Amino acid sequence: MSPIKVGLLGLGVVGGGTWKVLTRNAEEIARRAGRRIEVAAVAVRDTGKARRLVGNDVLVTQDGMDVVRHPDIDIVVELIGGDTLARELIMEAISQGKHVVTANKALLAMHGNEIFAAAHAKGVMVAFEAAVAGGIPIIKAIREGLTANRIQWLAGIINGTTNFILSEMRTRGLPFHEVLAEAQRLGYAETDPTFDIEGVDAAHKLTLLASLAFGIPVQFGKAHIEGISSLAPEDIAHAERLGYRIKLLGITRRRDDGIELRVHPTLVPMECLLANVEGAMNAVLVHGDVVGATLYYGQGAGEQPTASAVVADLVDVTRLQAADPEHRVPHLAFQPDAMDDIAILPI
Ligand code: HSE
Repeated sequence: MSPIKVGLLGLGVVGGGTWKVLTRNAEEIARRAGRRIEVAAVAVRDTGKARRLVGNDVLVTQDGMDVVRHPDIDIVVELIGGDTLARELIMEAISQGKHVVTANKALLAMHGNEIFAAAHAKGVMVAFEAAVAGGIPIIKAIREGLTANRIQWLAGIINGTTNFILSEMRTRGLPFHEVLAEAQRLGYAETDPTFDIEGVDAAHKLTLLASLAFGIPVQFGKAHIEGISSLAPEDIAHAERLGYRIKLLGITRRRDDGIELRVHPTLVPMECLLANVEGAMNAVLVHGDVVGATLYYGQGAGEQPTASAVVADLVDVTRLQAADPEHRVPHLAFQPDAMDDIAILPI
């Protein structure tokens, strides 16, 4: 069978990682996907640098529209971030009948309902495993592994930067801003680190998890969000003396009258597994009525873990695109054409 053709928007850390994984594990990936997955076009700012990485057989352009409108491209992978150009390119890709893979949690949290509705109407998939918890296959776990369950609640450390900061403040007694600078040097933080430290990045991801877990539309605007910027080493030391660790948790819970959706620093008893997740790692605890508690742990950011998730989505989309849209594994738990505004409860 002929290869499926992919267009990459962005060839930075995650885009470059995706290219490397697709090249390094090409045989295994082709076996699992049922056909070869070939990058046929990339859109980048620095075309010279991109050309050196991808060679001469790939279209290299500065204009993302060249990629999304290219007739040979079957799947568009959006890795440029932001919510302006990325949104335009994704909407255009969908209108061109192309499937989309994206790591853009902020975009989906803000505009997911519009994007998912457009994809649903067009019969294409929008896959976003890499948008939440990096290399941890949490989307697939909720969507498929736990499909027998009514999910009751989930709670997670879904921002590596803040977990790194809290760990370092605790173990080294360093002040907040000193550790933040280190997290930025290590490349964990978002371009705008206020998204990390004020809980916004975690809330973007939590919004997507809640949507999947409870079959509700994306409602980022209603999330309760508190960050960690006002915490001092003394708060952490005091919590420790009382038998707790302070963790920035994203928590969502089903109640009779609606859904809780909140991100805030939380006192977690030291004997709990989540209390012992240190450094930039992520972990998500999901409670289903059938299975009970399940825990997912791994690297929530970085080139290779995020590329692992992007490529997993590429394999999924490659396998599923041949099926009738009605018979695909649904990428959402709600019908975008029948969206009700489910009550998000005030905290
Ligand atoms: N800034 C994010 C984090 C990157 O620290 O978790 C991965 O989404």
